[in-house]
Amino acid sequence: MNKYSKKENYVFNFSDDWNRSHNKTKIIDQYSDILKGNVAEMGCNSGYHCFIIAENQNVGNVIGFDINEKSLTFANDVNRKKFSSEISKKVSFINSDLTKLDYDDSYFDVLISFHTLEHIFPEDLKNVLKEKYRVLKSDGKLLLSLPYKNAFDCDQHVNYFDLEKIEKELIETNFIKEELYIDKRMGDTPQHFCITGVFKKR
Ligand SMILES: C[S@@+](CC[C@H](N)C(=O)[O-])C[C@H]1O[C@@H](n2cnc3c(N)ncnc32)[C@H](O)[C@@H]1O
Repeated sequence: MNKYSKKENYVFNFSDDWNRSHNKTKIIDQYSDILKGNVAEMGCNSGYHCFIIAENQNVGNVIGFDINEKSLTFANDVNRKKFSSEISKKVSFINSDLTKLDYDDSYFDVLISFHTLEHIFPEDLKNVLKEKYRVLKSDGKLLLSLPYKNAFDCDQHVNYFDLEKIEKELIETNFIKEELYIDKRMGDTPQHFCITGVFKKR
C-alpha cells in the first residue's frame, strides 16, 4: 500500500441529482466543444462524471484512473448501472497511481483533472503533471478544476494552489495556457472558490 492508497480510501456515493447539478457537470457542459476522441479522467473516484463525459457524442471512450480500488469497484458495480449500455460501453476504469501512468505516450485527446491535484504531495506534483503531458496528444487539452487555496479543505488535501502557482507549474511542464480563472459557482465566499482552467499540450 503506497502513501496515496493509504489516505485515499473513500467512495463518492452521491445521488444522480447531486452529480448532475454539481459544478463539475457545469464545467463538462461549458467545455463540451473541446471533448472528443479518447478522454481520461485522472482521479475519477466512483466515476460518475466519466459516464457524463461519455454522453458527449464526440467522445469515443473515457478511461477513469484512480488508485482507490474501492471507488473503482463502486464505479463498475453501482454507477455503471445508472447509464445506458451505449454510454456504459464507452467507459472503463484503471487502478493506477497518477505519479506513474501505465499508459502509452500521446494517446488521449483530452484529460480531465477535477479536484485531484490538491491530493498530490508537493514532491510528486511535477511527476504527475509530466505524466499528464506525456499521455496527451499534441494539441490535446487538459481541463482542470481544483479548490482555490484552502477552500473545501479536508484531511486528504496536501497541496494548495492559487492562480499563479498552478499556472507556473503547468507552464514549467510545457503546457500552454488557454484559460484560467477563479470559479465562484460553488459559492461566493473564499472557502467555496475553485480554480477552473484549460491548458494545451504543444
Ligand atoms: C476528491 S476526489 C475527486 C474525484 C473526482 N475527480 C471528482 O471531482 O468528483 C480525488 C481522487 O483522486 C484520487 N487520487 C489521489 N491521489 C491519487 C494518486 N496518486 N493516484 C491516483 N489517484 C489518486 C483519489 O483516490 C480520489 O478518488
